Amino acid sequence: MIRNLLNSSKNGLTFLAPMVRYSRLPFRLLCRKYGTDVVYSPMFIAEGFSKSQQARDADFMTSSDDTPLIVQFAAKDPVLFLKSSALVANSCAGVDLNCGCPQKWAMSGGLGCEMLNHPDIIQSCVETVRSNIPNLPVSVKIRICTKTHETAADCGMGHLEVDGAFHGGCMHRTLELVRTIERAGADFITIHGRTAQTSSSTPVCMEAIKMIKEAASIPIIGNGDIFSDFDVQNMKEQTNVDGFMSARGLLQNPSLFYPHFLQRLNVPYEQSIFAHPPISVFTDFVDISSSFSLPYKLLHNHIMLMAFPLLAKGERDSLAGCTSPAMLHDFLSYYVT
Ligand SMILES: Cc1cc2nc3c(=O)[nH]c(=O)nc-3n(C[C@H](O)[C@H](O)[C@H](O)COP(=O)(O)O)c2cc1C
Repeated sequence: MIRNLLNSSKNGLTFLAPMVRYSRLPFRLLCRKYGTDVVYSPMFIAEGFSKSQQARDADFMTSSDDTPLIVQFAAKDPVLFLKSSALVANSCAGVDLNCGCPQKWAMSGGLGCEMLNHPDIIQSCVETVRSNIPNLPVSVKIRICTKTHETAADCGMGHLEVDGAFHGGCMHRTLELVRTIERAGADFITIHGRTAQTSSSTPVCMEAIKMIKEAASIPIIGNGDIFSDFDVQNMKEQTNVDGFMSARGLLQNPSLFYPHFLQRLNVPYEQSIFAHPPISVFTDFVDISSSFSLPYKLLHNHIMLMAFPLLAKGERDSLAGCTSPAMLHDFLSYYVT
């Protein structure tokens, strides 16, 4: 299904990024309702996921409307990646290998961005799932690789490194990795256009994403700094990627991809209407969350992320002080109209 979608999408597919804590079922359903094409689960650690039914029951939930869903795993062992993938193969549209988590605990355990230093393991993870579960699409989410002693002299970063946006990045290594992932049989690659060291406040590097898109023979999904439909168009123009993935932008505005969805259908729309989430996004999220018993603290966090840009200081304080679903409901009906 995901392969057909990627090949047939007229203006590029849109993706809800994997987000620990946040990209759970209720938020996925909300984003989908407002035009996002494909959603990711949060990252699951393959070791715990494959070994413990309790871990799976606590973390993984899906529903018949939750499709196409990509389930993401952090793994460094091809067998554990395969075991985890096999457990979700009938409940999702594909599995993804996380090679982009820059957190210390993940990297020191050999997971996330540390995998960028081990292309052979990435290759083996992808090949193992590809050959054992041929019908299950496999993807890899990466960042820009950093230099090593061997590659320091010529990393293909040109003037961009001087601008400070690359933080020791190396396009030669990155493109080599992309070719390895392709050869292993991955269906697509998502590139977050930063290195493991780049802070999320540094603008994402469009030139790096463009170089990867030009070099690759499989679909490339661009990720980083998509907060509006303008940013989608901008990434398309600058990189020509096949799809667009947003994390923080969708947390703030789950209807962010709605204009893109309407464009595909040739439906005219007023750009400004989708600059902020409409009231229906809030009420829909409260309804969906109650159907799936989302913990109140998480519901409250989501509402704060969506509403803060719309509120004055005093109103933000009132929202932060809501301690029950009833208080939240009253606040929303009064302030967010
Ligand atoms: C709260 C949060 C949780 C995240 N969790 C994951 C994760 O589980 N797996 C992953 O690959 N990336 C994770 N990321 C990174 C995002 O998927 C994305 O690559 C990054 O935020 C850049 O996209 P953005 O500029 O649209 O936010 C997370 C980001 C945020 C903000």
